[in-house]
Amino acid sequence: MEFPAELIRFLKKADRVSVLTGAGASQESGLRTFRDAQSGLWAQYKPQDLASPEAFASDPKLVWDWYAWRREAIKGVRPNPGHYALVEMENRTPSFTLITQNVDGLHRFAGSRNVLELHGNILRVRCADCGTFAEEWGDDTESVPRCGKCNGLLRPDVVWFGEALPRAELESAVVAARQSQVFFSIGTSGVVQPAAALAHAARNNGSVVVEINAEPTPLTPKADFAFHGKSGEILPELVKAVWGI
Ligand code: OAD
Repeated sequence: MEFPAELIRFLKKADRVSVLTGAGASQESGLRTFRDAQSGLWAQYKPQDLASPEAFASDPKLVWDWYAWRREAIKGVRPNPGHYALVEMENRTPSFTLITQNVDGLHRFAGSRNVLELHGNILRVRCADCGTFAEEWGDDTESVPRCGKCNGLLRPDVVWFGEALPRAELESAVVAARQSQVFFSIGTSGVVQPAAALAHAARNNGSVVVEINAEPTPLTPKADFAFHGKSGEILPELVKAVWGI
């Protein structure tokens, strides 16, 4: 793929780059997207029936089992070349922030260091009552495992429908977007707020906005550069074009 010389120049001299990723960034790792994850025996449920505080309150075992099933699926998944290209980008950029809506932990697995997980991490488990993180629990029980400290029910440390995003992460993400000189929106449909607003915050503060997505999104007309294709292919090519690696 040919990249505009202007974009290559911007990236070479940029001190501050921020990246927002969504489900598309993990697609080439073979991970099912949130909606695909409702296949087979889970197909009869709406997302709100499996990923909301109300669902957990009315049927905690159902919700726990769905996440246990997704955690197992994630264990066999590895980062793809797009994840590794973002590690290279971080290595070559003085101030680099990776903001992700993905809960799969693949950016850290690949080696990214400055990662803000806006929707939490499915591999982490915490008490629904006191918030204490659990390191161990049994998945083969008849009931939802309980907190060793307060006996509350354990739940995945992810953001559910109707829940607020983690405040510190969101604030840091807004700052990183505003301060960036180049902002990437990668593999995200750009319709879920407030993450979608980050690209606009970047743009309103003078950042160059670059989109990489399999298809056009509502952000495309507003982006300075938009590349349509797979992030696992485009990102390594871009890193090679800019830094020769
Ligand atoms: P979506 O599933 O809404 O969008 C995924 C985007 O990735 C789409 O725009 C696809 O075109 C694009 N895509 C697919 N494969 C790609 C590839 N190989 N390379 C590049 N792009 C690709 O996912 P998100 O935008 O992440 O929230 O959704 C945001 C949030 O909505 C999720 O985090 C989840 C959901 O409700 C919570 O769970 C709180």
